[in-house]
Amino acid sequence: MIWYPYTQMKNMDEPLAVERAEGVYLYTNTGRLTDSVSSWWSAIHGYNHPELNEVVRKQLEKFSHVMLGGLTHEPALALSEKLSSMLPDTLDYCFFSDSGSVAVEVALKMALQYDFNMGGKRRVALALEHAYHGDTFKAMEIGDDEDYHFAFPQKNGVLHIPAEIPALEKIFRERGEDFYCFIAEPLLQGAGGMRVYGAEFLRRARELCDEYGVPLIFDEVATGFGRTGNRFVADLVCPDILVLGKALTAGYAGHAVTVANKRIFDGFYGDSERLAFMHGPTFMGNALACSVALKSIEIFERDNYMDKIAHIEKFTREYMSDLCDGRVKEVRVLGGMVCAEVNDKSVLSGYAQFARERGVFARPFLNCMYACVPYVISDGELERVLSAMKEWFER
Ligand SMILES: Cc1ncc(COP(=O)(O)O)c(C=O)c1O
Repeated sequence: MIWYPYTQMKNMDEPLAVERAEGVYLYTNTGRLTDSVSSWWSAIHGYNHPELNEVVRKQLEKFSHVMLGGLTHEPALALSEKLSSMLPDTLDYCFFSDSGSVAVEVALKMALQYDFNMGGKRRVALALEHAYHGDTFKAMEIGDDEDYHFAFPQKNGVLHIPAEIPALEKIFRERGEDFYCFIAEPLLQGAGGMRVYGAEFLRRARELCDEYGVPLIFDEVATGFGRTGNRFVADLVCPDILVLGKALTAGYAGHAVTVANKRIFDGFYGDSERLAFMHGPTFMGNALACSVALKSIEIFERDNYMDKIAHIEKFTREYMSDLCDGRVKEVRVLGGMVCAEVNDKSVLSGYAQFARERGVFARPFLNCMYACVPYVISDGELERVLSAMKEWFER
């Protein structure tokens, strides 16, 4: 049997069986549903996309996977070139892995070993309150997510601060020399509650990281490829290490990448084997994943997805502007994300079923009723998603 994620198996609601998916629609055993979650933010072009299908088919005819140890291939080379050219500054050095959590592990390990290679002894990571960086051990440790990781409370070597400039300045003054990295989900903290904060905080973090020699890591696994209304938040403030996943492969394959700048890369580059980065997931650089990622980026750029996202944001803001209910603490809209945070999570009990009856697949969590729609969504389908959210409070 399948052991399903984030759920008590004893009283779990029966999951919907997807028979096929096309565009923004999931065709399930209970009928057609508009996907408001994009398969955990990944399926930015919707499902069963002809161009993405075609590129996978073509690559499949050549080979699906070879290891990157001692071998290389065109899809991985081309993807690394493409990422280098589209990312700012010297974010040019692409380390591939198979999931966002592993890519975060890679980023942390890189930052730690960078310090080691430089002869340092820094052992503390700085992270944000309410951070979520994945479910593997180091990612859990730097996360601050009591709701997900309550069974693993050990937190060695991490300090958490709120995303506020005075707290940031204070902790750097007190402990700045101890940090081997500062890691953040920039602008938008997803699984920790769809929390939004400003770019000024990140700009100040960049200055302080420079002043104290601390590598700045942006975990853009969720925010990358337009979700915040920026292509990457790294376009606004440039980190030393950037982590991308989810939308990287448009929901077609589990893959992620940790991109380092030249300063970090140079810390590993030298005559000694002991300077090398000792990591290598079996499926890193998977050829199917790299091919589909390349095509996905091509479509993203060719079809002006940033304009589509700006339209989704404007439409959503206007549509949700009159949602005013005592049970709603705040409505937040940023790029392709909308969240109605409620005061008490029991308010959302039954909402998934309610949305389903209106033709929408939704998955509220914690105190958050939210949507992260595929960017190809029509106004009519977006309205269907948003009206389900509003009508829940109008019953
Ligand atoms: C910000 C962030 N980092 C890392 C991860 C982990 O990615 P994955 O589920 O691919 O391991 C997630 C997943 O939701 C995420 O939102």
